Amino acid sequence: MNIKIISALLLSATFHCTYLVAAPASDQSTLMPSNPQEMKPLPDGDSPARHTAQWFKRGANLGDYLEVQPSYFGHRITVGAGEFAQMKNQGFDHVRVPIAWQDYTGPAPDFKLAPVIFERVDFVVTNALKNGLAVMINIHHFDALDKDPAGASDEFLKIWEQIASHYKTFPDQLVFELDNEPHQNATTVLMNPLYARTIAEIRRTNLHRTIVVEPGEWGSIGELKNLVLSPDSNVIVSVHCYDPFYFTHQGATWTNGMTPVTGIIFPGPPSHPLMTDVDLSQRPALLDWIKKYNTLPTATNPSSQIAFKSKLKFLRAWSDYYRYPIHIGEFGAYTRADEQSRVNFYSAFRRAAEAEKLGWAIWDWSSGFRYWDKMNNRPMPGMRQALFGN
Ligand code: BGC
Repeated sequence: MNIKIISALLLSATFHCTYLVAAPASDQSTLMPSNPQEMKPLPDGDSPARHTAQWFKRGANLGDYLEVQPSYFGHRITVGAGEFAQMKNQGFDHVRVPIAWQDYTGPAPDFKLAPVIFERVDFVVTNALKNGLAVMINIHHFDALDKDPAGASDEFLKIWEQIASHYKTFPDQLVFELDNEPHQNATTVLMNPLYARTIAEIRRTNLHRTIVVEPGEWGSIGELKNLVLSPDSNVIVSVHCYDPFYFTHQGATWTNGMTPVTGIIFPGPPSHPLMTDVDLSQRPALLDWIKKYNTLPTATNPSSQIAFKSKLKFLRAWSDYYRYPIHIGEFGAYTRADEQSRVNFYSAFRRAAEAEKLGWAIWDWSSGFRYWDKMNNRPMPGMRQALFGN
């Protein structure tokens, strides 16, 4: 996830000057996007995708479950049939299901998927649907595609051909998200034509299935500017947002040492300046961030809603312009942050998303960024109010 932070930081630094081209002052928040000319707004906002988006307002990611390496399956996270009723009862309307299909393929050219992965996914999909939850399934952690998009594209297409055929008779509440967080060499520009080919393949068997696409650089908001979709009124665009990253990923082991400072609260500033043992002399960006975190009032503090509010506004404007609904497929804070700060953060983020009429899915249901405390069979303290309170 190391690149994730780099993109997040670059994005924070350049967002205002590069991606948002404000139109002359007007009462409406008007956007003149800088996407390539081939990216056209849909003619009609009242699209099938917009209809589907109504089922995907408040979701949870079933993290660290079907996307872990096959040999680890069920070791850390298990999911019982009863958990879907709990999700529904809590207030979630959908579940996003990360899946590493690519770990279950046979040899080229067929890349036949092992029946066991369909059994596992069927279990999730059927139980979710049975409990009134919409479902988004994806391809997650397809590293070979990120390294060599051209080399892995046949496998990518074959996987989707098989998934599409398997689920072609399932209700419209099941949607397909093509690829989680393309990054590295899987740039938005290279993914655009691959998305177009994959959508055409899926449409052979699933004429009315809603399809979800993410831009590159880990699904970053700043990459929306490079997205080019062939007009399809049944496509939702999805992005991920983990800002403020130093808060949400504090103490995470998978950010390549980029988020070593713990004890960061949300919102800042702390009542006493945060002192850290971490040597920040070689990390000017983090040092500067901590300085601001320690000193600036909440209204301008980097560990506050200013880290994401204008980005969510931009999403609304982009979506209004192009008429593709936008879904925030991942946001969340690691359990290394203190409980109250996590509650404050989830509450502020989802309220800001809802103010912009954007559907969201938390990372995650019961793993390291958890909502659900499986041991005690209840939500983590304060989390229900944070996500579903008035
Ligand atoms: C990854 C997880 C990670 C989470 C937060 C997800 O996209 O799949 O492994 O914990 O992002 O960084």
